[in-house]
Amino acid sequence: MRLGPTRMLLGAVATLSVSLWCVTPARSQEKPQLAEEVFKNIQVLKGISANELMGTMGFFSASLGLNCTDCHISESSGDWGKYADDTALKRTARRMVQMVDTINKENFGGRRALTCYSCHRGSLRPRVIPSLMEQYGSPPPEDPNNVEIVGRNTPTASADQILDKYIQALGGAKAVASVTTLTAKGTYQGFDTDLEARPFDVFAKAPALRTSVIHLHSGDSITTYDGRGGWIASPDKPSPLIALGGEDLDGLKLDATLTFPAGLKQSLGQWRAGFPKTQIDDRDVQVLQATASGGSRIKLFFDGRSGLLVRTVRYTDTAVGVIPTQTDYSDYRVVGGVKMPFHWVVTWTDGQATIDMTEIKANPEIDAARWAKPAPATAQKSPGK
Ligand code: HEC
Ligand code: HEC
Repeated sequence: MRLGPTRMLLGAVATLSVSLWCVTPARSQEKPQLAEEVFKNIQVLKGISANELMGTMGFFSASLGLNCTDCHISESSGDWGKYADDTALKRTARRMVQMVDTINKENFGGRRALTCYSCHRGSLRPRVIPSLMEQYGSPPPEDPNNVEIVGRNTPTASADQILDKYIQALGGAKAVASVTTLTAKGTYQGFDTDLEARPFDVFAKAPALRTSVIHLHSGDSITTYDGRGGWIASPDKPSPLIALGGEDLDGLKLDATLTFPAGLKQSLGQWRAGFPKTQIDDRDVQVLQATASGGSRIKLFFDGRSGLLVRTVRYTDTAVGVIPTQTDYSDYRVVGGVKMPFHWVVTWTDGQATIDMTEIKANPEIDAARWAKPAPATAQKSPGK
């Protein structure tokens, strides 16, 4: 993976665990914005939402180990319109999308058995000669995100047991239920802020209403989940107000639910336990899987000893494959009788962000207007120069 200064640009398109913009949820009245309606030069990725197009760009970047401006002209940094210009790599990438589609149709019954990542594995040129070092060397450490339930094994602990232990570790069901509003202050630092720590605010209400604000130099970047619908209004997105839906809304809802974890068990469905043993940072973790209402699969990793939640991974579909969004939680401190994580690291295919809370208040009065659909941002500019 090449990580140069242009790598910053990869944060272009996402805020927190939300990748991107404008899918329209069925229950919201807003119309879905298709990629070809928002962008100027879409030739093969038609019929998907503009939001899914951006997820697809993340899939390309991760699979080939590229920055946005490796395929797009450098002027795209700072100007969304310039992403429309064609380059040799863009043209090849279009051909590759069609090639992969054909291979999957003709050989795997249309199932997405092959993706860009299968061949490219993080490099521009797939390797053609087998590596003796890989064959005989010691294998790299296992990625805990990759553990899956294979066959029918009896779980050592059920989903209910692991979730109950989590609530217990936080301070117990009574304490957890007693916190019904919350404000947090801190800093947000990511590729989209050029790694500068910017002031960050959260306003939340049980069971799952949450607004977060990153105070960027160019204006406030606001993400709101009002319990049903979700929006992003940010000066660094290609549209001034993005209505989220489907799997992207799942990310907002998860963040809101985890702020008031009493509702976690009910807010997700199809809970599964029984994953093989795995570790994060040399610590044993217990893994649960669940499905969110928008359809995305979510893995939750609980510290084997303390029982606290240390990671979530959410899987979102794109036009060419599934992309993960990972959030790591640490630095738990007691607020209003409940343990809350003060340090968050959000990692997705085209960026990483760190949130450090400096102050969390339990049960403050908050104006309900905080969770209303935000006003559109002004002056859209793509991140970068
Ligand atoms: C492997 C090459 C590749 C990489 C890397 C890549 N893109 Fe793209 N991008 C494309 C292709 C190809 C298209 C056109 C798709 C089509 O024609 O259907 C496109 C289209 C776009 C468009 C639509 C432009 C318009 O107005 O038509 C935007 C915006 C965009 N990309 C942003 C990004 C961002 C942001 C990143 C980094 C996260 C990125 N791209 C990474 C290949 C790439
Ligand atoms: C079946 C294997 C395979 C898959 C799947 C695949 N590629 Fe490729 N790709 C190749 C090969 C082989 C090359 C040519 C490398 C060379 O010329 O040495 C290539 C080249 C490229 C190049 C040009 C590299 C250069 O240096 O000019 C781009 C861009 C690219 N692929 C994008 C993609 C994207 C995007 C996807 C997914 C939609 C994808 N590829 C899927 C095998 C694959």
